[in-house]
Amino acid sequence: MSEQNNLENNLSPQTRVVAGGRPAHVENAPVNPPITMSSTFYQLGSSDINTYARFSNDSWDGLEAVIADLEGATLPGLVFASGMAAIAAVQDLVPVGSTILMPAHTYMASVTLAKNLEARGIAKLVRLDLENTESVIAELEAAAAERGTTPENVNYAAPKVLLWMESPTNPMLEVGDLPAILSAAKRLGIVSAVDNTFATPLGQQPLTLGADVVVHSATKSIAGHSDVLLGIAVTSHEVLRAAMHAHRTTNGAIAGPFEAWLGLRGVRTMALRVKQASDSALVLARRLSEHPAVRAVRYPGLESDPGYERAAAQMNLFGSVLSITLDADAAQTDEVVKALKIWTPATSLGGVESLVERRRRHGAEPHSIPESLLRLSVGIEDVEDLYADLTRALSVLGK
Ligand SMILES: Cc1ncc(COP(=O)(O)O)c(C=O)c1O
Repeated sequence: MSEQNNLENNLSPQTRVVAGGRPAHVENAPVNPPITMSSTFYQLGSSDINTYARFSNDSWDGLEAVIADLEGATLPGLVFASGMAAIAAVQDLVPVGSTILMPAHTYMASVTLAKNLEARGIAKLVRLDLENTESVIAELEAAAAERGTTPENVNYAAPKVLLWMESPTNPMLEVGDLPAILSAAKRLGIVSAVDNTFATPLGQQPLTLGADVVVHSATKSIAGHSDVLLGIAVTSHEVLRAAMHAHRTTNGAIAGPFEAWLGLRGVRTMALRVKQASDSALVLARRLSEHPAVRAVRYPGLESDPGYERAAAQMNLFGSVLSITLDADAAQTDEVVKALKIWTPATSLGGVESLVERRRRHGAEPHSIPESLLRLSVGIEDVEDLYADLTRALSVLGK
């Protein structure tokens, strides 16, 4: 690991995104970490560091340090080739005869991974009604009783019960009571993971709310420019970090040095971007909830949203994503999307440009997601231009 510039504890996140993950202040050292384009390293001895670029690479260090710092982890993060590679490094740890619990609405590829583990006879998959905390805790208790987990016998390298959390969920924007759910998991010896992609490390810090590991699709708000795929996992448990590191090294889903550098470059402006996008998302959520063509809006920062109180208690920023359900069928909703000029119809989120997607166009999305639901990822354009484009496109519905 390359030597880092250590930060004082009392700095705000806006400062940490800029000052974190930089090389140590050494005379004539570069201000930004260099990109190390080498697959192997000169080595006569047998040290674990800088042996081969699948094991470790200086180019990952800055990003791994700054995200761990923002999430409140005591160990450096682990950068992966994509969010899914980070997610696989956690889910794949479950042993034969285990249980994975995840909300009914969870990012579809995370569900596919868990379903694959189930199909191979490794894990049982239990789906959760995230907004109903009592029922979530009852499911946790049932899984812990079935698998015999206790806080004394928890195995972070091979969890018998893994709680997979997403809050807010993709694409329904439901909010779970993270402190209550995560503390129940801890009490029951259940290892908990939170996909914090929607909230970003600036909006929510699940480790401080009781999670054991946090994963991100750093492709989204962390890198922030829709030009790179990256993932990151952070934990303060040595054993869990070592197991994920071994998974990365053996499975080989490593980030390229240039991609990691782009990720860190994105982090430098993350506070500005996420704040701007969150502010605009709230303006749009408020206005769209009054629009005659819109049947429902979900945004955790909207005072009338069912998740608002929980979100206000556990989030610092409400994020750049909202969903709207139109008073329309699938074909009419597609016509609205086609009529947009500033919003780009594309999957993904968290970039500087605003994206829109009718989620049910994906066959893998469950039928509980309405056909006319649009997921809006708000960028950093002028909110008045974004709203004008939406109202003009919605007018194709005659409302
Ligand atoms: C919430 C969430 N988690 C994980 C992922 C997967 O990340 P990646 O596309 O970087 O593999 C996505 C991608 O859309 C996502 O929205």
